Amino acid sequence: MKLKLLSVVGARPNFMKIAPFIHAIRDHNQGILRETGQFHNIKIEHTLVHTGQHYDATMSDTFFKTLNIPEPEINLGVGSGTHAEQVGNTMIKFEKVLKQIQPHWVVVVGDVNATLACSVTAKKEHIKCCHIEAGLRSRDLGMPEEINRLVTDRLSDLLLTPDKMSNENLRKECVPEEKIRFVGNIMIDTLRKNRVITEKLEINNIIRNNLLQESATFASLTPAGYALMTLHRPSNVDEKKILTGIVDFLIGEVQAKLPLVWTVHPRTKKQLELFNLWEKILAEKNILLLNPLGYHELLRLNMDAKILLTDSGGLQEECTILGTPCLTLRFNTERPITLREYGGVSVLVGNDIEKLHKEFVYTMKSDRKPKQPELWDGHTAPRCILAIIESSNRSLP
Ligand code: UD1
Repeated sequence: MKLKLLSVVGARPNFMKIAPFIHAIRDHNQGILRETGQFHNIKIEHTLVHTGQHYDATMSDTFFKTLNIPEPEINLGVGSGTHAEQVGNTMIKFEKVLKQIQPHWVVVVGDVNATLACSVTAKKEHIKCCHIEAGLRSRDLGMPEEINRLVTDRLSDLLLTPDKMSNENLRKECVPEEKIRFVGNIMIDTLRKNRVITEKLEINNIIRNNLLQESATFASLTPAGYALMTLHRPSNVDEKKILTGIVDFLIGEVQAKLPLVWTVHPRTKKQLELFNLWEKILAEKNILLLNPLGYHELLRLNMDAKILLTDSGGLQEECTILGTPCLTLRFNTERPITLREYGGVSVLVGNDIEKLHKEFVYTMKSDRKPKQPELWDGHTAPRCILAIIESSNRSLP
């Protein structure tokens, strides 16, 4: 028997989620995946499609190499654009792919524009859709990702959730119980698998090799001796007043206490230049601006950071496992399990400078305390494969 799966990636946070999924398919086909042992007669034929939403080498290619993801069979090359352009162009191109490949399932991950575009297209072609990382809710429709999550979950036939709170969210939306499976956090599979290799990297080499200020000199960083930062959400970087407030805080408070390592997303760099903030930051000797980093490099810096400032959902989750005290520059999160009040290590500070200041002072006194939410155990991808096989077992040709 043959099961045809087509999975989709589009943007950076998708790559660390699809890697373990593809490796688990390989192991299943070789008959060495314990979880799917009783289904060894089913062979999985897999096609990987990249929508091309992220296209720079640093935002895309490097992840395929370092995470050992095979070259996508198909790249739709949609690139940058407005949301409607990205989603529309993806749908037009993806429809043709589906007509040609005719998979049994389309598997989408996360909450980016590719997730939305491909789940809608799949359902319109009467193809089953599986969503990995289903059920997360920020309840903020101002976030493009929340719209993507809601639509994808509403349409999906199989909803694989990272935590039990997500199951509850889906139940409240009246999703039938048989569609929901709690499998754990697939991105943590990647973290656990890559931890040993990452530990061997040297933090100062990472900084030196990725500095944006080419001529900058810096004193060697030491473990727990620097802050790490990522920032890219439209709500933080698209308005001059907000971005200026954050930059002033970084200069006035953070770098005044310890070196700040900031890996700069292309969207953010563009906005900093537009608002004439770029030169101001470049002038600060204690702020080290880096290009977007590869998976291992960012993970390595996170392992030794004293504190992380971020608006990325994925990094909130990685901090939970690593124990890095985290200030989340958002007013809400779809990942409450990462927050201190639910047992995690992160706190929401939005872009409210008062709150940022208060929590920065408090968090600087906190120690690293790793946590392990239920089923964030490195074995989520095999559970995803098992769920898909079980769910399709009855309807296979
Ligand atoms: C997207 C995802 C977001 C995810 C983030 C991680 C959606 C709605 N958003 O946001 O959920 O957290 O990726 O990075 O899907 N750009 C480049 N090179 C690239 C990619 C983008 O220069 O390889 C520039 C483009 O000019 C673009 C801007 O960055 O306008 C933003 O990229 P975009 O894909 O629109 O969204 P992200 O902000 O990256």
